[in-house]
Amino acid sequence: MTANIFFAAGPANWAEYAAPLRAALAHAGIAAALSDRADDPALVDYIIFAPGHAIADFSPFTRCKAVLSLWAGVEKIAPNPTLTQPLARMVNPELTEGMVEYVVGHVLRHHLGMDAHIHGQDGVWRNAVLPPLARERTVAVLGMGELGQAAATALARLNFPVLGWSRRIKAVPGVECHAGEAGLDQVLARAEIVVLLMPLTADTENLIDARRLAQMRQAAVIINPGRGALIDDAALLSALDAGHIGHATLDVFRTEPLPVDHPYWAHRRVTVTPHIAADTRTESACAVLAENIRRGEAGLPFLHLVDRTRGY
Ligand SMILES: NC(=O)c1ccc[n+]([C@@H]2O[C@H](COP(=O)([O-])OP(=O)(O)OC[C@H]3O[C@@H](n4cnc5c(N)ncnc54)[C@H](OP(=O)(O)O)[C@@H]3O)[C@@H](O)[C@H]2O)c1
Repeated sequence: MTANIFFAAGPANWAEYAAPLRAALAHAGIAAALSDRADDPALVDYIIFAPGHAIADFSPFTRCKAVLSLWAGVEKIAPNPTLTQPLARMVNPELTEGMVEYVVGHVLRHHLGMDAHIHGQDGVWRNAVLPPLARERTVAVLGMGELGQAAATALARLNFPVLGWSRRIKAVPGVECHAGEAGLDQVLARAEIVVLLMPLTADTENLIDARRLAQMRQAAVIINPGRGALIDDAALLSALDAGHIGHATLDVFRTEPLPVDHPYWAHRRVTVTPHIAADTRTESACAVLAENIRRGEAGLPFLHLVDRTRGY
């Protein structure tokens, strides 16, 4: 049987993915007809999807066995009431590797106070300050899924005391894990650097609001490569203005691209990165897509399924 695959992720992705995806499907031994069009939705077996493209109504895809997201974050598709097919999100080793490097890089920047040396070349030899050690700086990772656990583990290997927080308690070697409201109170009160790696859901939107910011340590640093709407922007700006939050390194925003007149761009305590923390890399993403289609064709459970009731 030939699997009909509808690539509904836009022309730019189609140009990038068509050839490597065909190669990955062939490598996985799958007979497939891959197209960026679905003239008859009732004949489609799999949909490959990225937000902002094509489908708003999934109900005509009556035979579709799964919708496979090119993105790890699925907040733009998971709440769609017409989507009744299983939804798998993108999880792959290179995406995780990219996120670990982003988090470790930005944590080390703040931990070591690198900015003072990068921007302060004034001819004055200031060597009186003892450089800090990672073992003396507590870092929190909120969201202990694929990406959060990998980032927390890498930080723990560098000797940072790491606190992890998630909905359900985890056991991760080298990481002190917490869950629930009381767990979050503790984690925020102790960490000097807080990394946000949660998905955006009804429960996590504006989680970092004025009350939660006030719980953080004086001059705490926030690093957010999760989703922009995890943070109440107005509350963060006031906490930054007041110096209660020492710095925010933000990769994701409510509106992307971040509008040119947004106060984050000019704020001296904010670093904006343009949603580049961890991108989906074509070759490894194609292997993940092909593996899930192979599983679907063999009647095996799909990998990386989204729990629609939880929204991630
Ligand atoms: N900036 C970028 O380039 C980029 C790239 C990829 C992904 N991302 C973002 O990173 C997010 C995380 O990705 P992932 O692959 O690690 O997701 P994941 O494996 O689904 O993990 C999500 C984690 O968040 C926790 N969580 C969810 N809702 C919660 C709540 N209400 N309270 C406490 N914890 C909660 C989950 O808890 P449980 O473990 O208890 O379920 C889980 O530990 C994505 O959703 C996406 O938004 C950004």
